[in-house]
Amino acid sequence: MRCTRHLADEAATLEFGAQLAQKLVPGLTLYLEGDLGAGKTTLVRGVLRGQGYKGRVKSPTYTLVETYSLSAFELYHFDLYRMHDPREWLDAGFRDVNDGQAVSLIEWPEKAAGWLPPPDVVIRLRICDDSREVECEAQSPRGTQYLETCCTPC
Ligand SMILES: Nc1ncnc2c1ncn2[C@@H]1O[C@H](COP(=O)(O)OP(=O)(O)OP(=O)(O)O)[C@@H](O)[C@H]1O
Ligand SMILES: [Mg+2]
Repeated sequence: MRCTRHLADEAATLEFGAQLAQKLVPGLTLYLEGDLGAGKTTLVRGVLRGQGYKGRVKSPTYTLVETYSLSAFELYHFDLYRMHDPREWLDAGFRDVNDGQAVSLIEWPEKAAGWLPPPDVVIRLRICDDSREVECEAQSPRGTQYLETCCTPC
């Protein structure tokens, strides 16, 4: 299961994030791939807004993770850009971070390749001049089920 979208501007990225937010269930792990400035954090902001979170959404570039207590579950927003060695993931105590009760959104998952929980969905953002392309690909039966409910294939 795969879906793609053209995101014309920042508002479109936020809106797509809000769409992805509607059917999230605890236990899902979503990887966010794409170059610097591709819109990964913007998409997370859209997800959080879609879940009714009104506070500030900051990029956890230095802290590695930001935790949000939403009404239905906790959401972990990771940004692993500054990790130099995948083992930092373990050193930070993240091995069993998602016990099935939380949703994890992980920017720069390639920085901890081999140590992270496997993704249910990989979201790839690509910069096209002043806009973005996004592709979501399910990687597990649960990911497929999730994407089918919130994204029409194309
Ligand atoms: N669809 C879009 N079209 C044009 N600009 C966008 C779009 N979506 C987001 N942006 C802009 O892209 C810029 C970078 O966004 P963002 O910080 O979310 O990227 P990122 O992928 O998280 O980067 P990093 O890897 O540095 O964390 C922001 O200025 C944001 O407004
Ligand atoms: Mg970011």
